[in-house]
Amino acid sequence: MRATSARFVKVAVLGAGGGIGQPLSLLLKHHKDVTQLNIYDVKGAPGVAADLSHISTSSKVVGFGAEQLAEAVTGVDLVLIPAGVPRKPGMTRDDLFNTNANIVQTLASAVGKNSPKAIIGVISNPVNSTVPVAAEALKKAGAYDPRKLFGVTTLDLVRARTFVSEAIGKAPVEVDVPVIGGHSGETIVPLLSKYPELSAEQVKALTHRIQFGGDEVVKAKDGAGSATLSMAYAAAEFADAAIRALKGEQGVAVYTFVKSEVNPKCEYFSSLVELGKEGVAKTLPVPKLNAFEEDLLEKCVDGLVKNIQKGAAFANK
Ligand code: NAD
Ligand code: LMR
Repeated sequence: MRATSARFVKVAVLGAGGGIGQPLSLLLKHHKDVTQLNIYDVKGAPGVAADLSHISTSSKVVGFGAEQLAEAVTGVDLVLIPAGVPRKPGMTRDDLFNTNANIVQTLASAVGKNSPKAIIGVISNPVNSTVPVAAEALKKAGAYDPRKLFGVTTLDLVRARTFVSEAIGKAPVEVDVPVIGGHSGETIVPLLSKYPELSAEQVKALTHRIQFGGDEVVKAKDGAGSATLSMAYAAAEFADAAIRALKGEQGVAVYTFVKSEVNPKCEYFSSLVELGKEGVAKTLPVPKLNAFEEDLLEKCVDGLVKNIQKGAAFANK
């Protein structure tokens, strides 16, 4: 039987010992509606769980080691997957594919077998391909519900909000930039026409910065990995939306990478969706694009279609 009622929310973090997993788990331990937090990693999970368990918030923290994947994902409502290798300078997200596709396949399959009704947020890169990998693994487990599988693209929204707020001199909380498409370079399409006060030069520069913000962090970390703290913040924002919807709040909407009919060429696409207790409840219309954005979208679709095909082909080989 599932643990969810109006009052209980069990969350599992898979890859919880890593650069994203640890701060994400900390933020979730602090979430008022999380009643149990399952910490799973192939390395270090018991230590992270013991550490978190001393924090005086009411959620229960349980650690699961390498051999305890099935237990870690049994009876959970929401699973977040930041397991996998991050980029080093000079690498693309696609270079992570071989390693991370295997990891995501294993983890999604375990969720499908043990918690077929759980909502899953895939963080592991390349998201454009790991989401189709997870979808195929869930199909094989007989547990695929397209409403419940998400690629977490929230960091693109967080970056867009930050960079645009700095450019127009407003507080980030007052700014909400739509970002559609995928999560990698030119597949990330920010719709900056919402802010007509930006000049054409600013739009060009901001678009590039939002699309390649990940590279900025990879370069600055100089071999020590990619974005972890901003990603944990973004994933916690995504998790909060999913939890509020699970608890019955109406009108919770997020930009996220899901199976979609928004773009006829892309089986999965990030756009604004309204969440409900069973995952995606409604796909909301994409704002009207101007010529610059139409051009961005064309470039996005070229790359995104290939990334999606690569994920699906891996899973079915
Ligand atoms: P990290 O190396 O610091 O942590 C990854 C963790 O995954 C490690 O603790 C490792 O032990 C664990 N792990 C490896 N195989 C596992 C398995 N089979 N089961 C469970 N855990 C396993 O890396 P990180 O910086 O936390 O990044 C993790 C992933 O997130 C990378 O693929 C990175 O590219 C991606 N990422 C995505 C976004 C996004 O916007 N979606 C943003 C930043 C990073
Ligand atoms: C990001 O956007 O920061 C992540 O996808 C990590 C990366 O590899 O850039």
